[in-house]
Amino acid sequence: MSHTPIGEPRQRITVASLREKKLHHEPITCLTAYDYSGARLVDEAAIDIVLVGDSLAQTMLGYENTLSITMEEMLHHARAVRRGVKNALLVVDMPYGSYHLGPDEAVRNAATFMKEAGVEVVKIEGGEKRADLIRRIIDAEIPVAGHIGLTPQSVNVMSGYKVQGKSLTAIEQLMRDAVALDRAGVAFIVLEGIPREVAAMITAEVETPTIGIGAGPDCDGQVLVFHDILNLVFAPPAKFVRRYGDAAALISHAAQQFRTDVISHQYPSDSESYHLPKETRVALETVLDRKRAMRR
Ligand code: KIV
Repeated sequence: MSHTPIGEPRQRITVASLREKKLHHEPITCLTAYDYSGARLVDEAAIDIVLVGDSLAQTMLGYENTLSITMEEMLHHARAVRRGVKNALLVVDMPYGSYHLGPDEAVRNAATFMKEAGVEVVKIEGGEKRADLIRRIIDAEIPVAGHIGLTPQSVNVMSGYKVQGKSLTAIEQLMRDAVALDRAGVAFIVLEGIPREVAAMITAEVETPTIGIGAGPDCDGQVLVFHDILNLVFAPPAKFVRRYGDAAALISHAAQQFRTDVISHQYPSDSESYHLPKETRVALETVLDRKRAMRR
């Protein structure tokens, strides 16, 4: 399979095409997007997977962590992203609480994402312990992605955002998690915040494509958060984040420049203003002249 150059017509990415990419050792790309404009730009950059991550709780909504975001909030953003994505595979995070209260409710919520936001895959955090639930959702014709290692929805159980899989016991559990997800038939597995060596072992072991974030270069693909690559966050970046642009500086400069122009009467100029047609202007002048004459 060959890479499609950016800007050229490309085929829609599907769950099957991700497997093909793994088979052919073709790296898979994934970025988060949270709104229409971001989604269009990411999709038009020929990124394979657009993820409406629940990280939007922090990046877009200013929550402290991902735990408080609701189905309604995720749906609102997923619908906007759907309108901007043409070719990438559209994936959404099931928010905390939307799949923890029983399989019926989990299937209902996953189906809501498909029916109301047109998403193609739902992502669920957790490994071995989620395998039965994931099978139930797949049985309802809804593709599911897994997410293991540092799972942000477990922040309180993990006592913070810490690299996982550092002891032999933890590595064994991660392998069991990955194999369980592989057997359950997930579309791909996100490996977050684990040592490179462990991610490489998992990637070699499973047939499912692995997508790493803070998991080293040996995964089948890589995912980063939109706001991280653009410096749109207000905290120092994690070790694995590579910044490809400085949108914060750009936006800040533009906002300050706008303010300066307005308060110094430099904006708007005459050429940035609408004008009356000549006949109306002449007629208006005549009316105003008459009014002035009557006042005298
Ligand atoms: O919510 C998110 O952005 C994610 C990625 C970090 C994989 O789950």
